[in-house]
Amino acid sequence: MFIPLIFYFFATATAWVYPNPQLEALDRLRWDQTGFNALGISIFVGPCNFFFVDTNATGRSDAADWIRTAYHDMATHNANDGTGGLDASIRFGEEQVRSENVGDGFNNTLSILGIGASRYVSLADTIAVGAIMAFENCGGPEIPFRGGRVDADGPNTPGVPEPQDSLDSHIAAFARQGFTQTEMISLVACGHSFGGVQHALFPDVVPDLNDPTNRQSVQHFDSTFTNFDNKVASEYIAGTTQNPLVVGLNDTKNSDKRIFGSDGNATMLSFANSPQLFATTCSSLIARMVDTVPNGVQLTEVVTPLSVKPANLQLILNGDNMVITADVRFWNMTFDANRVILMLWDDHAGGTHNTTLAARRAGTSSAINDRYSALWYGLDNFAFDGLAGIKTMRFTVNGELEDQDGLGFVVDDSVIFSASSCLFSPHPLAGRLDVAVRNGVNPSRIFLENVKIDSSGHPVITETDIPPPAQPIAANAVYSIWSHNVTDNNLYRIVAEVDGVNISTWANPAGVFSSCPS
Ligand code: HEM
Ligand SMILES: *[C@@H]1O[C@H](CO)[C@@H](O)[C@H](O)[C@H]1NC(C)=O
Ligand SMILES: *[C@@H]1O[C@H](CO)[C@@H](O)[C@H](O)[C@H]1NC(C)=O
Ligand SMILES: *[C@@H]1O[C@H](CO)[C@@H](O)[C@H](O)[C@H]1NC(C)=O
Ligand SMILES: *[C@@H]1O[C@H](CO)[C@@H](O)[C@H](O)[C@H]1NC(C)=O
Ligand SMILES: *[C@@H]1O[C@H](CO)[C@@H](O)[C@H](O)[C@H]1NC(C)=O
Ligand SMILES: *[C@@H]1O[C@H](CO)[C@@H](O)[C@H](O)[C@H]1NC(C)=O
Ligand SMILES: *[C@@H]1O[C@H](CO)[C@@H](O)[C@H](O)[C@H]1NC(C)=O
Ligand SMILES: *[C@@H]1O[C@H](CO)[C@@H](O)[C@H](O)[C@H]1NC(C)=O
Repeated sequence: MFIPLIFYFFATATAWVYPNPQLEALDRLRWDQTGFNALGISIFVGPCNFFFVDTNATGRSDAADWIRTAYHDMATHNANDGTGGLDASIRFGEEQVRSENVGDGFNNTLSILGIGASRYVSLADTIAVGAIMAFENCGGPEIPFRGGRVDADGPNTPGVPEPQDSLDSHIAAFARQGFTQTEMISLVACGHSFGGVQHALFPDVVPDLNDPTNRQSVQHFDSTFTNFDNKVASEYIAGTTQNPLVVGLNDTKNSDKRIFGSDGNATMLSFANSPQLFATTCSSLIARMVDTVPNGVQLTEVVTPLSVKPANLQLILNGDNMVITADVRFWNMTFDANRVILMLWDDHAGGTHNTTLAARRAGTSSAINDRYSALWYGLDNFAFDGLAGIKTMRFTVNGELEDQDGLGFVVDDSVIFSASSCLFSPHPLAGRLDVAVRNGVNPSRIFLENVKIDSSGHPVITETDIPPPAQPIAANAVYSIWSHNVTDNNLYRIVAEVDGVNISTWANPAGVFSSCPS
């Protein structure tokens, strides 16, 4: 019997708990695919025949590039010594010049997926989510996604199978990667449901097709090469396949033929007979493929969409006021003009307050090709008593409480950005970034984090310490100020180590500071 994946998925996974900056970022990457707060990655696989390098051409697609990239990055894994795996080592030129990694598909992929990399999301995580998005948005099954991959510092040992290698060598290569022979057959079929082989890269496999729109003469693995379905299996079994690695000109390079037939066609026959079996098999194998990481890398739990997700929360101390800006996503919610959503919060003095969230951020945010909907509500620069501060948020939706099963949504206001930050000079830029520290909180260290995405898409984090003030500078009755001069308008996160825990919050970019009093 076919158990719908969505049911299975949500029945077995528990949601993450807010606050958690890493899971907030991973949830955004994986679920906020379109609409408000979306990173915009999914538009590159919607429609699924889209190929951003040459939008007029047929034959190639971003979806196929993303899936092949994830496999080639993972395929260096050695299950015996724990080295290699999905770690974005494919970004290094030293890996790309190898014959096992021919083509421009890897750089195409990284130049898009790098959009998703950030302080809490490695380039390797984006490669994993890219493959998952390609499957999910293009007719494939839903695939559980975990984050926490670590980008490699250099190239890995070679290890991607090539078409001219023997069947024994392919079986050995997949065993080294952690997959059995049956899993090898399945994984190749899953991947080769997309894309094909280029003439220029494999002239003895694919002839020049002389097709003015299929400019790179790509001969496809099945007749529906921009979509996931079981045609790669059904056409193979029916003997009608045009798969160039089955019926290619050079039989030595017909690796799919050898692999698919290696168990007497049993696995391919089962896929040809059951689209559902193929989909569930690919869901679990693609998940294992992207979760194949070097030893020592600790992946997160499966990232499920938080049903009520605060995001982009920023607190600013302004005199005796605190000013909050936040977005709140309500999953699986559709538009209703009459709905009332309140944010309730507890302060440090035992008081409870509430305000209405603006529905003006409402707008459908559909993830995975309209499979899900979500609505965003928000608060912009809402001011409240900054001395009393804020400890916990809760929400009510038409009177119904949303409080994370009693935990509430904890907000830490112990170290926040201060509106007393100011500009000495706009050109050349010179400003003072003020951090407000709640009295009684004793950070062992406060530093600014800045993240730059390098040319390969890999995020590089720099830290700049803010020294403690020589003598306390009071901001108001309950906060004092730590200051740091900046000469750029980079976006920083303020991080404070307090009692062995790092608390972090956004600093405003220096570009919006007011002038320093002279
Ligand atoms: C023995 C194992 C494998 C061999 C020998 C092999 C070989 C190839 C070759 C020669 C190409 C053509 C590349 C080009 O011309 O651009 C290709 C494309 C592709 N492969 Fe594989 N492959 C293997 C396994 C896999 C696996 C496990 C996956 C993913 C799960 C995968 C996904 C893809 C995709 C999506 C493409 C299409 C790329 C495009 O159209 O741009 N392959 N493969
Ligand atoms: C794409 O095709 C359109 C219409 O055929 C043409 O006007 C345009 O110049 C083409 N663009 C590229 C990049 O080839
Ligand atoms: C991809 O980018 C890397 C790093 O910039 C570069 O070394 C490599 O030559 C590029 N590969 C291709 C095929 O263009
Ligand atoms: C077929 O591929 C093999 C292995 O790469 C190669 O040695 C041989 O020259 C190729 N044959 C032709 C006709 O290109
Ligand atoms: C597997 O199926 C293909 C395509 O129908 C066929 O050519 C081949 O002989 C079969 N192999 C075996 C071992 O049955
Ligand atoms: C989404 O909301 C609808 C209507 O409230 C409900 O019937 C359905 O079970 C929800 N789906 C999920 C996945 O939570
Ligand atoms: C919200 O605050 C008002 C006072 O400002 C209070 O009357 C009302 O009961 C509060 N609502 C909730 C749900 O706590
Ligand atoms: C920051 O810059 C101002 C203006 O140039 C200067 O007066 C002040 O001493 C600087 N502070 C630090 C800590 O360098
Ligand atoms: C806090 O951040 C610093 C700098 O990134 C790191 O070295 C330290 O391990 C972190 N501490 C905790 C408890 O995560």
